Amino acid sequence: MTSMGYKTLKFPKGFLWGSAASAHQTEGGNHNDWTEWERIPGKIKDGTNSSVACDHYHRYEEDFDLAKELGHQVHRFSVEWSRIEPDRGKWDEREVDHYRAVTKTLVQRGIQPMVTLHHFTNPIWFRDAGAWLNPKSPDMFAPYCRKIAKALSEYDVIWNIINEPMNVVGGGYLLGEFPPGEHDYGKALVAAKHLLMAHGLAAKGIRETYDDLGLHQPQIAPVQVVTYIEPYDRSNGSDVELAEYVDSLYNQMWLQGVMTASIPEPAGDGSQYEPLENSADFIGVNYYSRMRVSSKLDFMAGEMPPKDDSLERCEGLDWEVYPQGYYPVIKSYWDRWRKPLFMTENGIGTLDDRLRCRYILTHLQQVHRAIQDGVDIRGYLVWSLTDNFEWTDGLSSHFGLIGMDYSTLKRTPRESAYMYREIIQKNGISGSLQQKYLGRHS
Ligand code: FCB
Repeated sequence: MTSMGYKTLKFPKGFLWGSAASAHQTEGGNHNDWTEWERIPGKIKDGTNSSVACDHYHRYEEDFDLAKELGHQVHRFSVEWSRIEPDRGKWDEREVDHYRAVTKTLVQRGIQPMVTLHHFTNPIWFRDAGAWLNPKSPDMFAPYCRKIAKALSEYDVIWNIINEPMNVVGGGYLLGEFPPGEHDYGKALVAAKHLLMAHGLAAKGIRETYDDLGLHQPQIAPVQVVTYIEPYDRSNGSDVELAEYVDSLYNQMWLQGVMTASIPEPAGDGSQYEPLENSADFIGVNYYSRMRVSSKLDFMAGEMPPKDDSLERCEGLDWEVYPQGYYPVIKSYWDRWRKPLFMTENGIGTLDDRLRCRYILTHLQQVHRAIQDGVDIRGYLVWSLTDNFEWTDGLSSHFGLIGMDYSTLKRTPRESAYMYREIIQKNGISGSLQQKYLGRHS
């Protein structure tokens, strides 16, 4: 069936629809390395902080009621390590119970929990020990992962371990926009190596925990942010070369380590690292935008060529809306690894909700195209369920399907939330829905 030239896009049976969020961005009341970073003047663009955020820590039931009402079938959230292990080796059992209750609340609403164990933030003691530069950091992270795996094992949880490790590396050690705010290529590679080892040890710990409890093995996945990297000038060989290098560094290297159970160059010497074996049942892909790189600029210092003025942008972060980059990103992972994929984050910060609708639809068209071409994609999550604290931009960023009035903490679903619900209910996108939001098919 077509409507003004748009085809109905059907998604595979069992495709999972939902949204994603993280602890620090929503909960409020955390004390970790980001909390202290936010207090340094100039670090957060709008001068806000996450001290209250969405108060999700106390309002998760309300938020999950809304998710259910909006048809969501899966919800990705993170456990805050600094709450569970405020000092090294000291466990806060009340906080463990809290996340058990959070997970149970989802399950009771028929929503599949997908749990991230590390979403950017570190406990203060871990930061003080040198964070990901410390050779012992993977061993410091592993006991916490085992602890949470055991605590949540009675629920059917899908595990993500570390969210966007190359963003932790790039933001923290190259561009200096995330704590610890460094600009040091050597340190970035060390951090990348330790994050890989941490993923392996954590996955092994989860598998052993389930085995010890006599449970079926859960699904475990790495989650990569994948930006579509393009040379600024395609006819310039140095630009092309730089684009290939940046793609291999940001998009490929870390995942290659997971998939081949090794520490690849340039982070390592290619040697095998046994705990990484069997550490990915599927690959989580976070996609937002493209990045153009120019050999005339200092990429390592964060210098980027001008944006394309003809493209719409994400507010604040200024990311170009570039759905055309989604398909090649998905395809490159599939062609290289032949592992199932899950679209673990995709969305836009904007107060123009019609733009959010267009963003979601045009990106889903690309996901559908990849599925048609044989890529095994298991689900799609909008970032994010509600507006929340955006790392470098603060509270003036609006990624939510649900709007947040920070003075009252009132949640109000946007039109995009209802558009998305219609897609979920149909497990597809009708021609008329596309026509309504995208206009006439050209
Ligand atoms: C991703 C992060 C997520 C959110 C979105 C906008 O890179 O994983 O926490 O900030 O960007």
